[in-house]
Amino acid sequence: MDHFLYQGGVLHCEDVPLPTIAEAVGTPVYVYSANTLRRHARAFRDGLAGIERKHLAYAIKANPNVAVLRVLADEGYGADVVSAGEMARALAAGIPAADIVFSGVGKTRKELSRALDAGIGQFNLELEEEGEVLAALAHARGLRAPAVLRVNPDVDAGTHAKISTGRKENKFGIPIDQAIEMYGRLAELDGLSLRGIAIHIGSQLLDLAPLEAAYERIGLLLADLRRFGHFVSRIDLGGGIGVPYRRSEAAPDLAAYGAMVERVTKDWDVELMFEPGRVIAGNAGVLMTEVVWVKPGPLNPYVIVDAAMNDLARPALYDAYHDFVAVRPNGARMTANIAGPVCETGDTFAMNREIDQVHSGDLAAFRTAGAYGASMASTYNSRALVPEVLVDGDRFVVVADRIEPETILAAERVPDWLKR
Ligand code: LLP
Repeated sequence: MDHFLYQGGVLHCEDVPLPTIAEAVGTPVYVYSANTLRRHARAFRDGLAGIERKHLAYAIKANPNVAVLRVLADEGYGADVVSAGEMARALAAGIPAADIVFSGVGKTRKELSRALDAGIGQFNLELEEEGEVLAALAHARGLRAPAVLRVNPDVDAGTHAKISTGRKENKFGIPIDQAIEMYGRLAELDGLSLRGIAIHIGSQLLDLAPLEAAYERIGLLLADLRRFGHFVSRIDLGGGIGVPYRRSEAAPDLAAYGAMVERVTKDWDVELMFEPGRVIAGNAGVLMTEVVWVKPGPLNPYVIVDAAMNDLARPALYDAYHDFVAVRPNGARMTANIAGPVCETGDTFAMNREIDQVHSGDLAAFRTAGAYGASMASTYNSRALVPEVLVDGDRFVVVADRIEPETILAAERVPDWLKR
């Protein structure tokens, strides 16, 4: 459920007609609904109402806009970050350092140092050497770094291969069969306060079964760790809950997810951590675009829009489906291909799709673009970096400017010896 609805035949975001935003900001532009973000943040928390000790850390990679983070911070969310840049955003949004989890398979020594100095609440370790380095850095500062060990449970998330993370051949986590020994060695280190285990098996899961299988494995590992006398007070269950991209897909049943978590973890006696990303932000945003041309094609016309794969990479990267709707539908339908202006065949959002009839100059929107949309944008083909707008009731504000190609050009230089 989101707040992008038609009123008087015009697509609105909350109380703001999308054409008003197009007029003020231009296209392409991401438009986010603050009340949809709040709604999803609450729905996720409500689903977990039966879990007493929990920490919710929004995975900010999904949508790291600082205004979006502020909305979620106001909902009591911490942050899961994977770089110093994301950490800086979370702190800038007012998320307390203690509520930040630092994940990521390639945290540099510099990033670990910065995170220690900032006092972040939990490091999710990906390999033993990272734990040793972090311990030494913390020890030198007279600190003990709060940490958990990310385990790879070797469970197939059954999602797109490029966003599966929990199979043993994936680069993430340490093999589950090495976890007990490694946990024992890391727990000994002076500069570490090892508190538990983390997992994250993949993203866009619409089926709870793989998550349940992974959590069950972690339950067995937890029992083993305790049998060996290890202290475990936290288990980080990661993110991964999917969203419906197609109208035929059902929204994730967060109550069923909560009930599953409760059932599997009832004897764990730990604080549970969650890192939801897409389920919070996915349906809270659209990418609004203008139709540039409707170009005749051999089978179907090509609807060429002014948004491209650099603005929304998911279709090109994962063959992802994003619903495409006219902002002012005229009631007629057409079968078309939808593509952007970038000089790659991969810059195609859809082929042979039945859509609202559109003509050049019409506004349209790619739906469910609030997660992994703007956060993955680039300036390929020397296009502008796409701007972002946040709507809250009848107010809207540009929360990220369009970065024009001239601004990017201004940061480049020609060496003296090549100057004319
Ligand atoms: N925690 C960790 C350690 C993660 O790696 C991720 C996502 C999350 C939490 C949040 O997962 P979510 O709840 O959003 O599924 N760009 C891809 C998705 C990549 C996800 C990467 N990791 C896409 O557009 O589908």
